[in-house]
Amino acid sequence: MENFEQLKTVKFYSGETTPLEMHKVRVVQKLNLLPIEERKESIFGAGFNTFLLQNKDVFLDMLTDSGTNAMSDNQVAAMSVADDSYAGSASYYKLEKAIKEVFNQQYFLPVHQGRAAEHIIAKTFCKPGTVVPMNYHFTTTKAHIEMMGSVVEEIYTDEALKTKSVFPFKGNMDIQKLNKVIEKWGAENVAYIRFEAGTNLIGGQPFSMANLREVSVIARAHKIMLLMDTSLINENLYFIKIREEGYQNRPIVDILHEMLSYTDFSYFSGRKVSCTRGGGICTNNHDIYMKMRDWVPLYEGFLTYGGMSVREIEAMAVGLYETLDFNVISHSPTFIKYLVDALDKEGIPVITPAGGLGCHLNAGEFIPHVPQTQYPAGALAAALFVASGIRGMERGTISSVRDENGDDILADVELLRLAFPRRVFTLSQIKYAEDRIKWLYDNRELIGGLEWIEEPPVLRFFVGKLKPIGNWVDNLVAKFRADFGESL
Ligand code: F0G
Repeated sequence: MENFEQLKTVKFYSGETTPLEMHKVRVVQKLNLLPIEERKESIFGAGFNTFLLQNKDVFLDMLTDSGTNAMSDNQVAAMSVADDSYAGSASYYKLEKAIKEVFNQQYFLPVHQGRAAEHIIAKTFCKPGTVVPMNYHFTTTKAHIEMMGSVVEEIYTDEALKTKSVFPFKGNMDIQKLNKVIEKWGAENVAYIRFEAGTNLIGGQPFSMANLREVSVIARAHKIMLLMDTSLINENLYFIKIREEGYQNRPIVDILHEMLSYTDFSYFSGRKVSCTRGGGICTNNHDIYMKMRDWVPLYEGFLTYGGMSVREIEAMAVGLYETLDFNVISHSPTFIKYLVDALDKEGIPVITPAGGLGCHLNAGEFIPHVPQTQYPAGALAAALFVASGIRGMERGTISSVRDENGDDILADVELLRLAFPRRVFTLSQIKYAEDRIKWLYDNRELIGGLEWIEEPPVLRFFVGKLKPIGNWVDNLVAKFRADFGESL
């Protein structure tokens, strides 16, 4: 695996392994790095919730890779020739052609974003008394399935939740657990099996083709449909190509076609896979297509736009072809690996191996003195913003819910996700992130916990507000000034 990775990257005379941008910047957006005193004001104003920060106060926005990726010149050019018709737009037919050629799927239903596809799929196939086994859930996916009265069973492998690992395919399904779920519920009550590419909530971790193949054999034997969430397929393709035996010399398009040949249908968020907005559902099965088709005009828009703007549709078609380019899909994972490896080498707790969505700091180990009831991942997100102007996303107990007694259901792991929007940041910006994270780690004892001042009953992580317990933020600012002088 290592050898091939080196083969495919440009070798430096110095011997350094340095990821290299295989694109140049032609349009730029100005960034602001506020002085630390103003960053402190901003985080208080945002209730210690990075979702509530204003982007003008943020230096590197690593909140998400959703809808924040850089488009190519060809994508931007395509947007200017979009055909603005409600029905039968020429732009739509370009997209349909891309779906056929890139995904090898004959039928397509456009939707306004990934969760809209999840809504239509769950509405069509889930009902009380049914189960959806999956490698791991995503928040919106689970909510749509449960809203239809169906149950989610996660059948990840033992490696998946290990924060330190060298296992190359943490997104795999546990075959034994899958067989048990089918036995327990009965095959007729399995709505479908869902496989998420680049498994988001365990750190952007891929599955292997071998595991997918094995699951598909079981699904077919029981006549259960197999659904794939291809929102993060780019990086999963990259990892199969560089890590899985037998795929190193296979063209990306072949790997993708093989993957989808094991599925009955798939869906994606265009906010990730094609560096645009929008989304869609793909299948080669006419019956499956017909079962869902009529919901699209009702919830999304007519069948030739599905809630997307025609400009978005043009850019999506081009973006899908670009996912077949190794330079495009390797950018994010190689830059993520650079940061993860650098931090890991320093003994800073990060999720390993590096995945395909971002760098995940393990807040539980970073600041073990902050109890889970005082939200270490949220506290670390706020502390990193104060120290650097970098905005990450809390993926810990704040993102969880309370039980019937009003107690927090503590998250499996307390993570701070630093997402890497595709082709957005340069290496010096990543080095800046590395530097400030190291400083914060050396000063980790200064970081304290958080408590609620305003806690919404649902999805509290989006708009809830907190405050620090004690005056640890002032101490952090004072130490920064002592160490960095007048530096921003
Ligand atoms: N599936 C996966 C694997 C996702 O990561 C997301 C979104 C969705 C479905 C839903 O798609 O946002 O277009 O409605 N993930 C974003 C994130 C929100 O920040 O990780 P959407």
